[in-house]
Amino acid sequence: MIGKAEGKRISITGLGVHVPEKVMTNDDLSKLVDTNDQWIVERTGIKERRIAADDEALTDICLPAARRALEMAKVDAASIDLLIVATVTPDMAFPSSAAILADQLGMPDAAAYDLAAGCTGFVYAIAQAHAMLASGLSKRALVIGADVLSKILDWTDRSTLVLFGDGAGAVVLEEVDKGGFIGFELGADGGGGASLWLPGSGSRKFEDPEKFVKMNGREVFKFATRVMVSSAEAILDECDKTIDDVDVYVPHQANVRIIDHAVRKLGVAPEKTVINVQKYGNTSSGSIPLALADAADDGRLEPGKLVLLTGMGAGLTWGSALIEWTHQTTGAAA
Ligand code: ACO
Repeated sequence: MIGKAEGKRISITGLGVHVPEKVMTNDDLSKLVDTNDQWIVERTGIKERRIAADDEALTDICLPAARRALEMAKVDAASIDLLIVATVTPDMAFPSSAAILADQLGMPDAAAYDLAAGCTGFVYAIAQAHAMLASGLSKRALVIGADVLSKILDWTDRSTLVLFGDGAGAVVLEEVDKGGFIGFELGADGGGGASLWLPGSGSRKFEDPEKFVKMNGREVFKFATRVMVSSAEAILDECDKTIDDVDVYVPHQANVRIIDHAVRKLGVAPEKTVINVQKYGNTSSGSIPLALADAADDGRLEPGKLVLLTGMGAGLTWGSALIEWTHQTTGAAA
């Protein structure tokens, strides 16, 4: 799916993020599995990640992020009529984490549901919310991208354990006079789904049901390097922009080598690229809002800036969004 944003102008008017308190360094992980700081840093760029406590579930980390976003946008929770939570690690299959959060936040008029598109979930969710707002169906939306992947990792599998972390980010979307979303490109390839999957997690029976994430790292790496470039090029072309028009490039934070490859191929200036994978690892749906918050706090995300977001992940899925930033969003960082 690809298209320019039509209808009312919609933008991000509030941003908030939250991560669990517990920091796990590469050295900490090397005490659990046969790995080391040098391997992890060289292959991924990750130095540490946040890990949720035993009794800390998805909605626990979403709640502070959501409150911060609402506060920044200066809107009443009760005025939100749409809440989408992009995640693959909800508190439970049902009720949805969005319904739980709508109740906790005080949003009696909100349609609330979860959306599963792997690490691309946040980009999918803002595209959906945009469509509902631009058409007039929704008046004010809260979109949360969050995951606690630590809960579905095999803590004896070094090939996945070192890559992921937990985190949440939330944005308020509203109508604005100028600027805002310019276009979206979203895609999926279920044929490649088994490269990154959790086969025992649903209604399909498997001989040997898996409780943990299974990944073919090399296949995902090849997929990621391809779509991070093709999706960004497609949306720029669709919206009559070039990479030189982009002021801030926010790629999904999976691996610094995947980001470096995209930066080289797209020809985007490294100083325009946001990288924080070193401190959070891959937080799946939380990754892009966490990167936006750091960019805002570094003074790089000023109103008027053209921002390119590109994500990819399980599904396999990918997606890009182009947005002209409209609001001051400093103070969101974790
Ligand atoms: N520590 C030390 N050694 C390790 C580790 C580890 N944690 N993991 C693997 N190794 C070893 C392997 O066993 C292998 O050893 P061998 O040569 O003796 O067989 C060696 O290191 C090289 O392993 P490779 O898998 O070839 O390493 P590669 O350079 O491909 O890097 C990595 C692996 C980092 C996983 C890379 O393939 C990658 O980043 N893939 C993409 C993963 C990703 O981004 N997934 C998330 C997608 S987004 C989402 O939806 C969640």
